[in-house]
Amino acid sequence: MKVTEMMDLHGQVALVTGGASGIGLAYAEAMAEAGADVAIVDIHAAGAQEAADRVAAATGRRVIGIGADVSSEEETERMVAATVKQLGRLDICFANAGIAEHGAVIMDYDPKEWDRVISVNLTGVFLTDKAAAKHMTQQHRGSIINTASIYGLVGDFGMGAIGYTAAKGGVVQITRTLAVQLAPLQVRVNAIAPAFVHTNLGDGLLQETVTDPVVLAAHAEILRRTPLGRWGEPDDLKGIALFLASSASAYCTGYTYAVDGGWLAL
Ligand SMILES: NC(=O)c1ccc[n+]([C@@H]2O[C@H](COP(=O)([O-])OP(=O)(O)OC[C@H]3O[C@@H](n4cnc5c(N)ncnc54)[C@H](O)[C@@H]3O)[C@@H](O)[C@H]2O)c1
Repeated sequence: MKVTEMMDLHGQVALVTGGASGIGLAYAEAMAEAGADVAIVDIHAAGAQEAADRVAAATGRRVIGIGADVSSEEETERMVAATVKQLGRLDICFANAGIAEHGAVIMDYDPKEWDRVISVNLTGVFLTDKAAAKHMTQQHRGSIINTASIYGLVGDFGMGAIGYTAAKGGVVQITRTLAVQLAPLQVRVNAIAPAFVHTNLGDGLLQETVTDPVVLAAHAEILRRTPLGRWGEPDDLKGIALFLASSASAYCTGYTYAVDGGWLAL
């Protein structure tokens, strides 16, 4: 089969959590641009609907917006049921929704912050994968793609990201375990590990417009530390998303793919 045919997603349906913004929105665009119909899920229902309308207008695909909180099993079950009801099937699921944390040295770190970050960044992935797997294993077909982070593979360089790194390390591990568990049922599970990408994560802390001198110093350090000499942009994640969603990656499961400007090579 030609690689262009492998990467053609016409006739398939993708769901993206955290799809109203940033990396999730880029995943949703990539899926629709390759021909899939898409469900954009976000805790901000209006944002999900606005993103869905924009992607539908740009691509001509059927794109729906769904409001759901991925830390609730009832809501992850509902988002999958609504996708199958409205778009007819589910072939590709991105467990992508995530939040930043208020980092601290461990002596000052509030356990409530730990619970908040783990509930979205790790439990949210578990619940999204569970809801998708229940559907995909019935049809013996599917690709689940979790958003991890380089912070699931190496330690934090100074932001106090204790819960975040623990959650993302957990995402790398659940990806391996589910890949083995679901392989006999022809459902593949992989993860993407971005480095630093300009998005709305952390209330603007990752945007180029920051002015706080402490944050600016961290930005400069990130730039200095990145071999390709720039931050990532959401569009940098589209290629790997399409590869892992499509049959171009038919023999790939259980692996976490870094998209990091060379961060892990250093
Ligand atoms: N931006 C980066 O530098 C970076 C690096 C590595 C990994 N990531 C990961 O990428 C993913 C996407 O983040 P982003 O950078 O695009 O940030 P973003 O803030 O632009 O997008 C995250 C989206 O998730 C939604 N969301 C938050 N909590 C939710 C919940 N409980 N249920 C449903 N939706 C929820 C938000 O409303 C938002 O639209 C996250 O998992 C993040 O940890 C980001």
